[in-house]
Amino acid sequence: MRKRRARAAARPAKGSGPSRSMLKAMAALALEARERAHASYLGFCVGAALKTCTGEIVTGCNVENASYGLSMCAERVAVFKAVSEGLADFDVVAVVADSKRLTPPCGPCRQILWEYCGDILVHMVDLKGRSKSLRLSQLLPFPFDQGHL
Ligand code: THU
Repeated sequence: MRKRRARAAARPAKGSGPSRSMLKAMAALALEARERAHASYLGFCVGAALKTCTGEIVTGCNVENASYGLSMCAERVAVFKAVSEGLADFDVVAVVADSKRLTPPCGPCRQILWEYCGDILVHMVDLKGRSKSLRLSQLLPFPFDQGHL
């Protein structure tokens, strides 16, 4: 019983949330963005596509730097681009990478996503087309946010 509930929560339900075709379109945009990744140091390319509830989509890729710590993840590039353009109310982020296990947003990206997007749906996809969708609250349970200040 418990198992069934957990699966239902992780999958976008029919009639609510983004459709499968929307998730596919977002994965395609994230894949396109991934092709623009600047990942010459670590060689790991990531693309992201962030959607508002009204359908605007902003993409991002990781942008590395010779001073490694200055490198920026694809998800945060997408969030900062979108927020700086005045967009708000996000409902889905798609993340595409090439890894054995699906790539979720890293810890700092989860924190930034929580701040600006709340409990968004995180749709993770690999180059073989495997995918999994989880709520950000599943990836970042018990988050620290402005409610604590
Ligand atoms: N990276 C992302 O773009 N997103 C993530 O969520 C995980 C990591 C990037 C950062 C760095 O350029 C490379 O992947 C390896 O960590």
